[in-house]
Amino acid sequence: MCKMNRYLAGILMMPGLGMAQALPQNDRLVHEGVATCAASQCHGSAVPRDGSNVFQNEYVTWTQNDPHSGAYQALNGELSLAIARRLGIGDPREADICLDCHADNVAAGRRGERFQISDGVSCEACHGGAQKWLSTHYNAPAVSHADNVAAGLYPGDQVKARADLCLSCHLGTRDKFATHRIMAAGHPRLAFELDTFTELWRTAGRQPHYRVDADYRQRKAVNGHGYTWGAGLVADGRQRLALIMSPGFAGGAMFPELGLYDCHACHRSMKSVQWRRLPRQGGAGPGVPFINDSSFVMIVALARALDPDNAGAIESSLTELHLAGSNSVTAIQSAAKDLDAGLRKLQSGLTEGSFRNREKDILAEILKSGARREFLDYESAEQAFMAVQMLVFELRNDQMQAEIDMLGDALQDDERYRPAQFARLLERFSALD
Ligand code: HEC
Ligand code: HEC
Ligand code: HEC
Ligand code: HEC
Repeated sequence: MCKMNRYLAGILMMPGLGMAQALPQNDRLVHEGVATCAASQCHGSAVPRDGSNVFQNEYVTWTQNDPHSGAYQALNGELSLAIARRLGIGDPREADICLDCHADNVAAGRRGERFQISDGVSCEACHGGAQKWLSTHYNAPAVSHADNVAAGLYPGDQVKARADLCLSCHLGTRDKFATHRIMAAGHPRLAFELDTFTELWRTAGRQPHYRVDADYRQRKAVNGHGYTWGAGLVADGRQRLALIMSPGFAGGAMFPELGLYDCHACHRSMKSVQWRRLPRQGGAGPGVPFINDSSFVMIVALARALDPDNAGAIESSLTELHLAGSNSVTAIQSAAKDLDAGLRKLQSGLTEGSFRNREKDILAEILKSGARREFLDYESAEQAFMAVQMLVFELRNDQMQAEIDMLGDALQDDERYRPAQFARLLERFSALD
């Protein structure tokens, strides 16, 4: 590849510029299979290697500690078999609607000789098909990260690209989605936040999946927790809106796709009638179920702190989206479009620099949302918790750190979530400032 192309490849990978990279599942490359990564002199070393710029024991970490290596096996568990029976789909290990998220389900013609679907969410499900870079990617520095990316390696170091990757399974796309039908058959509810989930996943084992050291910084993009959280939220919000605007949202005869709604808007006890009116719903209801807007609630707080000129517009578009809920699917989709315009604007101005030393301001806005009783629904409280936990960690505030577990405990059981208790705990954080 000539120098010019290499330069362009680098530019195109910069956040906010150029085209989005195809997700690994659709990258048109042959996926060679985990066995091709797992040799002991490659990524299958028993222990981290000295003198190498990567650990080289990623295969061992993945097999032993990464939930993704068991994602296919989970399809043979009791719960999966029950889900499959209720849906009438036969063996879930052969059903695309399950395999699309529980394995590297690329088309038959793109499966290399050593590819095995039973490997689950494999190396290439995240790093992209290795067809064009398998035999060259370890020749650093002669072969750069940009060269690898140009050869089809997925740029998981870029926050936006990583968000798109994780969200494709942890939220869904037009092509694969954990619908209300799948949920009602017993699938666990999905919740996601990019920074928290990256850390949960990366550090699940005795040793992290990769290490961000001086050498990594030289080769790849590195972002702080704040930016990862914020950019991840906006990507999540925009993906939700894209799903709402897609034809699939209209759903079956009676309801739109309820998988995009706030589960607890409908599924809660009728004995304790709680008049949970959320300020952002602008007086919608009673009796109107609402979209799962938990990432938008965080985005509004984020915008208030970092992009106040835009915050008002985002907030009123969100209210319009909720008001449209008692109108029609078309009205919801049109409101989604307006909200997306606001998010696009916010997204274009967000950089690593916008978050520098702003943790305190963002936390203050989240706590204010709590005081305005925006976290009456469990889904929003869950997002608020993940945000507060990340911000407190960044602020290195020992007093707050000591309280964070109590906040998490209040969310242990979604059926028993008590908004007033959660609000009181958040109030204590304001007092600690
Ligand atoms: C849009 C992607 C998606 C689809 C489609 C999907 N899943 Fe999942 N599934 C997930 C994710 C993500 C998780 C992990 C959720 C978490 O813990 O945050 C999960 C979790 C599960 C679990 C719990 C795993 C465990 O170890 O406890 C089971 C069981 C399961 N899925 C079965 C199925 C079956 C059966 C199908 C097909 C009918 C299916 N899934 C379709 C994404 C998906
Ligand atoms: C759930 C997605 C996922 C899976 C599965 C996964 N990785 Fe990764 N991996 C990532 C992300 C994200 C990063 C960090 C961003 C980057 O450096 O590309 C990373 C980083 C790495 C790095 C560090 C690169 C460096 O420059 O320091 C190596 C090596 C690696 N992965 C190899 C593997 C191998 C081998 C497997 C399979 C055994 C695997 N990964 C499975 C997502 C994944
Ligand atoms: C191809 C689909 C897919 C992709 C891509 C993917 N995941 Fe997952 N992830 C899953 C499934 C399925 C599970 C559940 C596995 C199980 O429990 O059997 C899961 C589980 C997890 C869990 C454990 C959740 C829990 O409740 O314990 C974390 C954390 C996680 N993923 C983070 C990530 C991150 C971060 C990324 C992006 C770098 C990512 N995932 C990309 C499908 C995917
Ligand atoms: C608009 C209201 C509404 C929303 C929002 C909603 N559901 Fe449902 N759900 C229903 C109805 C109606 C049924 C069918 C009646 C029943 O089985 O209770 C149902 C059934 C279910 C069932 C099966 C219950 C059983 O005992 O058979 C589960 C599980 C479920 N939903 C989970 C979810 C999850 C997870 C979400 C959020 C992603 C969600 N629901 C969002 C209305 C809703």
